[in-house]
Amino acid sequence: MKDILNCAIVGCGVIAPSHAAGYLKQPGVRLRWACDLIESKARTLAQKFGIERVTTDYRVALDDPELHAISICTDHASHAEIAVAALEAGKHVLCEKALAATTEGLDRMMAAGDRHPDLVFSGVFQHRFDRIYQYVRELIREGAFGTLLTANLKVLCRRTDAYYEADEWRGTWAREGGSVMINQAIHFVDILQWITGGVSALSAAFANLTHGASIETEDTAVAVLKLRNGALGSIAATSSSHLDWDPSFYLYGSQGSLELRNGKLLRVSFADSALTRRVETELAGRMDDARNEAGKDYYGPSHPTQIADFVAAIREGRPPFVPARAARVAVDLVLSIYRAHREGGWVTLPPA
Ligand SMILES: NC(=O)c1ccc[n+]([C@@H]2O[C@H](COP(=O)([O-])OP(=O)(O)OC[C@H]3O[C@@H](n4cnc5c(N)ncnc54)[C@H](O)[C@@H]3O)[C@@H](O)[C@H]2O)c1
Repeated sequence: MKDILNCAIVGCGVIAPSHAAGYLKQPGVRLRWACDLIESKARTLAQKFGIERVTTDYRVALDDPELHAISICTDHASHAEIAVAALEAGKHVLCEKALAATTEGLDRMMAAGDRHPDLVFSGVFQHRFDRIYQYVRELIREGAFGTLLTANLKVLCRRTDAYYEADEWRGTWAREGGSVMINQAIHFVDILQWITGGVSALSAAFANLTHGASIETEDTAVAVLKLRNGALGSIAATSSSHLDWDPSFYLYGSQGSLELRNGKLLRVSFADSALTRRVETELAGRMDDARNEAGKDYYGPSHPTQIADFVAAIREGRPPFVPARAARVAVDLVLSIYRAHREGGWVTLPPA
């Protein structure tokens, strides 16, 4: 076990403080590098969190023999290059969602991870640490719903033209890789596929309904899903809503149903009324009112939990709770949604 774990944050924008704050909660972790193409952004993060060194070139940080691990907090299209370089330099990697913007990027990242099985390579999906979704996953796996019939996800959020225009990577196919599906909805697309056991095929359509020329990508998308467990599903997502952030799940089975909105229970009903009461009680105990201390409330409180897991995985020489290979599944699914729109018909997904 390393006494001191030296970490770097590459990309010092909106999400970087959630990583910095998470690392600083971990005993024996030192933030050694803040890196951003824009030096002033790296300096601001460094000052706020007491980070020792600043660079505009992530390769300078990777050349540091004292550096052990990096968090990648840059735009989607740059993740693959930085992650591969970091793994080849012998550094552990925690990469923000979406892991990559293309299948080719994902494949390069997986190959680099496979070449370095001794390194921890994890993808951020902090909501997998939310105890409410972990419990619903257990319920599905235990068969509490009987035959799962349908699993539906709705993600409503508001992203203005000003939001898309503020950073040049947003709203572009080349750098964001899409918009509402690959950036906002992907958190819950991942939860949907994770709790139900995966998606085997899908058909989809997307549109730009309210953002005009501020984006070239989609602000609204829908998909019809065939789940691996035989159930059917759907996803509807939009960044054109009047609501800031409103994700909801609707799970309907032959023996029970459950509706969640924004991480809170809307409705639960099982044929076995004792089970209904047990699930209500259990979910109430798992609804986390903790806030994200370093980012927006809707990021949820689980970045520190995921960072604690990443650090513990490094120290204990074990796989992380969200290995990069698991974090690619939702990206493959989202990229399949775009493909289904362009090609029409059904896209089949390989088993994870
Ligand atoms: N998990 C979450 O809840 C959550 C929330 C917000 C953003 N994110 C993800 O975090 C990532 C960053 O998003 P953001 O909103 O912080 O973006 P941002 O635009 O605010 O910040 C990205 C920063 O990366 C820098 N950068 C780009 N390429 C670089 C390079 N090669 N080397 C060094 N710096 C580079 C940019 O200059 C910019 O300052 C994205 O993958 C996004 O999807 C995750």
